[in-house]
Amino acid sequence: MQHYITMNMDGAKLRTPQGVSVLDVAVEYGVCIPHLCHISSMTDIGACRLCIVEHVSNGRSKITTSCTLEAKEGMVVRTNTDRIRAFRKNVAELLVAEAPNSRAVQDVAVRCGVTNVRYPFRNENCILCGRCVRVCAEVWQAKAIGFIGRGKDRHVDFPFGTRPDFCKMCGTCVDICPMTITPCNGPMKPGEEYLCGQCESQLTMNADFPDTCVSCDLGKGFHCERQRA
Ligand code: SF4
Ligand code: SF4
Ligand code: FES
Repeated sequence: MQHYITMNMDGAKLRTPQGVSVLDVAVEYGVCIPHLCHISSMTDIGACRLCIVEHVSNGRSKITTSCTLEAKEGMVVRTNTDRIRAFRKNVAELLVAEAPNSRAVQDVAVRCGVTNVRYPFRNENCILCGRCVRVCAEVWQAKAIGFIGRGKDRHVDFPFGTRPDFCKMCGTCVDICPMTITPCNGPMKPGEEYLCGQCESQLTMNADFPDTCVSCDLGKGFHCERQRA
């Protein structure tokens, strides 16, 4: 039998099945918590850190990623405070500096209020979100790719850099990667990167309800999990 809990999100009392994450609850109820590395029904690793929220407990608030935070009975969560918006905006600004050639990253940066990038652009081709690694392991049970190395050398690759026989050549790792779709005006060359700002979420954003889902289409084909519901 399914058990339910009741939690408080941004002042609203929400009833939800036990065992789901706070991000899943938000997605279900149409509360916008920007996110990139989350894929519904798969293990969350808290990689992109965009989905941070304030979790209020015993009068103290702690900032944590909502995709890795299980919704519990009586829990109080704030998704859109000034503090959260400032932290999230900085996370998004760092992400877009890291990987400006992703339309999904560009779009989510706009959604998080980034209007200017103060960090040097690095034009990386991977944000280490782990979506490819998880889909390979959890959907295809293949484990044909994984994270290799540490620190600045960390990257995704096949074991020993060679595609193994057990790779099913399904292409899901590519389909699910936020780096596969370039910004509106095409790929940016190193040294010529900029904040694009021409994103769907900006066009549909409502200043009166900044925390409400606007069905972002993060670069056509890379959807917010809300649209899968
Ligand atoms: S193509 Fe290979 S590496 Fe990519 S998800 Fe499929 S099995 Fe995994
Ligand atoms: S290759 Fe793409 S999906 Fe895989 S970790 Fe990097 S950005 Fe994420
Ligand atoms: S969606 Fe939670 S850290 Fe990326």
